[in-house]
Amino acid sequence: MKICFIGTGYVGLVSGVCFSDLGNNVICIDKDREKLSRLVNGDIPIFEPGLSELVRKNLDAGRLSFSDDLIGSINKSDIVFIAVGTPTAKDGVSADLSQVFSVAQLISKKIKTHKIIVTKSTVPIGTGDKIEKILNKNKKKGLFTIVSNPEFLREGEAIKDFKYPDRVVIGANDKKVIKIFNELYRPIVNKGAAFVSSSRRAAELIKYASNAFLATKISFINEIANLCEKVHVNVDDVALGIGLDKRIGSRFLRAGPAYGGSCFPKDTKALAKVGKHHNSPLSIVNAVINFNEKRKKDIENNIYRILHNKIKNKTICFLGVTFKANTDDLRDSSAINLISKFIKKGAKINYYEPSGSKEILDKQKNVNYFDDLYSATKNADLIIIHTEWDEFKNLNFSKIKNNNKKITIYDLRNLYDSKSFNNKNNITYYSIGRPVNA
Ligand code: UDX
Repeated sequence: MKICFIGTGYVGLVSGVCFSDLGNNVICIDKDREKLSRLVNGDIPIFEPGLSELVRKNLDAGRLSFSDDLIGSINKSDIVFIAVGTPTAKDGVSADLSQVFSVAQLISKKIKTHKIIVTKSTVPIGTGDKIEKILNKNKKKGLFTIVSNPEFLREGEAIKDFKYPDRVVIGANDKKVIKIFNELYRPIVNKGAAFVSSSRRAAELIKYASNAFLATKISFINEIANLCEKVHVNVDDVALGIGLDKRIGSRFLRAGPAYGGSCFPKDTKALAKVGKHHNSPLSIVNAVINFNEKRKKDIENNIYRILHNKIKNKTICFLGVTFKANTDDLRDSSAINLISKFIKKGAKINYYEPSGSKEILDKQKNVNYFDDLYSATKNADLIIIHTEWDEFKNLNFSKIKNNNKKITIYDLRNLYDSKSFNNKNNITYYSIGRPVNA
């Protein structure tokens, strides 16, 4: 099929390239010419394992192209995916849909033949209806069908999540259109994905409800972790024991620091706002948001306690600063928040980050990036394992020992079994949801 993606951000680029890899002809559109010329040369601005190879392969096969010609590309396509950003608005809670609506305006002025227009970006319930109104206002009735097709891609696993999703969700009421999406997603459904067709509004809500539920699972296990520390239980045992119940499921039950990223914080707040707007307050989602905010403070206070409230002139080493492993994304990463607090209190920060140095950190006084993990730990008063990169899972502690008189570790991802430190007398190991300093 002939497809175009408007927006070559995280969702548009990954989805567009993956659709081309399934044999479709895909044009990825962006107004940023400099970015397009980098993409055409396979220079990918986002950190996503395997993406640059897939771009190169499909550019060479002639299935994938990049363009800044919005109208020309739309007129060449059967299906138009809107994949522009829907960041949190200035009010700090609702979704900013200005980019979505300006694209809809542009499309409404220019389409001449019937187009299927798809919202791929995460959009609040009823956005499809608003896009429909914009197109009708420009007397394009009958020349378009608006569909919701939310994505469920995780950063760092996006290609796998695209190719092997648990389900494809299509929000449309028109049987002919649903048949077209059955065809488009056939290769993925043939590999086991469920195909769910629903109303457009249901599909829009499915996306938000999915992210809010995943965030709820994480905050739930983080809250249970707090109790575990008080009742001398290992939260990993609890997560295992409850997760084996298929009604609960074992994924997204890893206790850690506050959840971050570009989606959970944004989508939970947007969903809570929709609930409030429709006089159907989402008290559980609000509790998840509030708990996650409080967790950032709790982790910070734990660190002050570990350092006996002596933070000035201390050296704190962060192993990993992104919001999770296998990404270079710092959005809502708890490390950024912690580092700015510690700097203000006179600490010195060393950090090692597998995805490379971060300008937002390097421009701060007393923050030093190390491209070697063990140099970053040298003379650190506290080593914080902040993300679950594979290379942090088998640290050579004797190598760290050589640099440090005494080692104190705060493992925010429970990468190690606390018992394995019991007889190591110069290592004090703290982690999440286990008997303190076990
Ligand atoms: C999420 C959703 O998973 C994805 O379906 C949606 O399309 C976009 O938002 P992403 O934000 O990329 O994906 O990351 P994810 O892997 O979901 O992690 C989100 C946050 O939760 C991270 O801070 C991560 O560290 C944290 N997390 C995740 C936990 O603390 N414990 C877990 O068990 C899983």
